[in-house]
Amino acid sequence: MTTPTHIAIIMDGNGRWAKARGLPRLAGHRAGVEALRRTVRAVSGTPVRWLTVYAFSSENWARPKSEVFDLMGLLKLYIRRDLAELHQSGVRVHVIGDRDGLAKDICALLAEAETLTRGNTVLNLVIAFNYGGRDEIVRAMRELAESARRGDIDPESIDEAVVSRHLDTAGMPDPDLLIRTSGEIRLSNFLPWQAAYSELVFLPCYWPDFSAEHLDEALRIYAARERRFGGLAAQGVAS
Ligand code: IPE
Ligand code: IPE
Ligand code: MG
Repeated sequence: MTTPTHIAIIMDGNGRWAKARGLPRLAGHRAGVEALRRTVRAVSGTPVRWLTVYAFSSENWARPKSEVFDLMGLLKLYIRRDLAELHQSGVRVHVIGDRDGLAKDICALLAEAETLTRGNTVLNLVIAFNYGGRDEIVRAMRELAESARRGDIDPESIDEAVVSRHLDTAGMPDPDLLIRTSGEIRLSNFLPWQAAYSELVFLPCYWPDFSAEHLDEALRIYAARERRFGGLAAQGVAS
């Protein structure tokens, strides 16, 4: 079975999961953190080497202040509680997104997680926090324009590889499989550049219900897909 090297997940549906149970949205986000914990463990037991999770988008600031506060608190709690276990299991933590918009204590925790786990190689866990694909591309364009203005880079030399190197995901492979839970069928500004050729799998389950079985299901769907990258199918080349 073909296994993806990199899985990206839009962890969606926490609020609806809570609502269906008559619980506050925060309960859904808490259950979402549990699902993340389970998923990291499940993925660590597969050949998948990269897992990117969408935890907070640059558009999520539009939510009520109290919910934004809760989500910030949960990120801190997750790092504080899970960093030791992640490190012990050989997980390397990366964070993508705009750090400038985040509080100092959060930035310090994120930096601590990245520094502590720098040497780990079992699984790369990429947390997309205050991440938006358009924002990422705008920041990369600004950097490139600055370099061109200083004369450090010739605009003629800018190609896809150069742009990729200026994104938050510099050095990371593109996701092979992108999963979104909760039944929504859109990307919501998640990895628009990197997911150009990803296989997209949309599952109806809410994120807090996501289990090893759902992961297997997504991996089976992925294995049955035929990736062509604009070329021809294997049998097409032969005939
Ligand atoms: C995903 O769940 C978590 C974040 C966006 C932070 P939602 O909070 O979007 O849950 P729904 O989509 O309202 O159910
Ligand atoms: C995307 O989900 C962001 C995260 C899962 C962190 P949203 O719930 O914010 O997306 P929309 O608003 O339904 O597009
Ligand atoms: Mg949502």
